Amino acid sequence: MAVNLLLGLQWGDEGKGKIVDVLTNDYDIIARFQGGPNAGHTLEFDGYKHVLHTIPSGIFHKTAINLVGNGVVIDPVILEKELKNLAKFNVDYKKSLLISRKAHLILPTHRLLDAASEAAKGKAKIGSTLKGIGPTYMDKTGRNGIRVGDLELSDWKERYRNLANKHEAMIEFHGVELEYDLKALEEDFFSAIESLKELTFIDSEEYIFEAQRQGKTILAEGAQGSLLDVDFGTYPFVTSSNTTAAGACTGLGIAPNKIGDVFGIFKAYTTRVGSGPFPTELFNDEGARMAKVGHEFGSTTGRARRCGWLDLVALKYAVQVNGVTQLMMMKGDVLSGFNTLKICTAYKYKGETITHFPYNIEPENVTPVYTEVKGWSEDLTEMTDKSQFPKELNDYIEFLEKELETPITIVSVGPDRKQTINR
Ligand code: GDP
Ligand code: IMO
Ligand code: MG
Repeated sequence: MAVNLLLGLQWGDEGKGKIVDVLTNDYDIIARFQGGPNAGHTLEFDGYKHVLHTIPSGIFHKTAINLVGNGVVIDPVILEKELKNLAKFNVDYKKSLLISRKAHLILPTHRLLDAASEAAKGKAKIGSTLKGIGPTYMDKTGRNGIRVGDLELSDWKERYRNLANKHEAMIEFHGVELEYDLKALEEDFFSAIESLKELTFIDSEEYIFEAQRQGKTILAEGAQGSLLDVDFGTYPFVTSSNTTAAGACTGLGIAPNKIGDVFGIFKAYTTRVGSGPFPTELFNDEGARMAKVGHEFGSTTGRARRCGWLDLVALKYAVQVNGVTQLMMMKGDVLSGFNTLKICTAYKYKGETITHFPYNIEPENVTPVYTEVKGWSEDLTEMTDKSQFPKELNDYIEFLEKELETPITIVSVGPDRKQTINR
């Protein structure tokens, strides 16, 4: 059975968590393949709002197994908090949550290193979520990391100490003022490790392989977005993992020829948290309106998200890099009431008009070229069927489908599970 992928096509926070939750009815296994607690995936149903950072977004469905794959980096302290939140909702996670032995651990000193590195960069900082993501992936590729499976070895604490000592020297090297109490941080860490050890650790690539053989349905859940991919994103203002489709192969052990559908999630406009170029960013009332109506504050850090018009040059690039087979458009409801909507269909790049995503999209090189379309005034949030869509919304959707040469199969009109319309 082929594995389907679901991933964000912009700079993250497209609404992946909501759609994974909606689609989980159709899957036996939901598997996160990269990222860590830099992610914040929001699910809303029955009047509750849940934000997941490490745990896959299928966890509230009784029938699904949720797997944290080898490509994910885990902070035991954050995971423990997430588990505590779940307990209130009678989620039997000891049965339904599995952890790959090959997933790497975020140590307290990884978080400190993240902070020291950002402080040392000054104005050039990435705008990291400060969850220790970059330093943990650096240790992974540098072959120094500690993995979940190591917790089953007798000498892991020794290895922990050696690595933490090295990190302290590296923190000092950055030469920035950073106050911390490592003893207190370690107390929390080692206590959270005990909670982590109560979960089931597995050889996840074997598990996935066997599940495929048995014809089980699997959905791989991405974190962040394609424009934050370490190779294809707006480097260096990216995260430290492959957020694109290839990341699901390495982050779970899925062979490329076993990938089925690729669901690409995008907002009807664009947002970005943290630093880095953003050609269609708005600094006027229109941007402020998107931020206000869309409640555009980060699910992980609470930072205000920067807002702007939809960028089709970037979106087309993401569709290509991922091989997207179906698109899902989120937050169309936020655009209700704009007389005119702008869609960026090309860039003026060093004096030329281009329609591909170039090496560098810094503002001094790139000016967006817009196509203007008529907006809609109707409130979409109560709609339950596509037949209720205003003509202008249908025109917007059809314009995007034509430009992206990919069907938009789901339109989301609000944060709740129920506010999801199939086309
Ligand atoms: P993720 O990281 O991709 O899972 O997205 P986030 O959860 O960080 O951010 C998406 C935000 O938009 C969350 O607060 C969702 O509850 C909300 N949301 C999702 N879909 C819609 C939608 O169609 N309309 C509106 N108004 N909000 C939505
Ligand atoms: P979800 O899965 C939005 C951004 C950070 C920063 C850059 C690097 O919820 O869509 P990192 O902590 O990874 O070193 O930060 O990436 N970023 C996200 N932005 N949504 C996310 O995840 C993000 N995860 C990281 O703001 O600019
Ligand atoms: Mg998010």
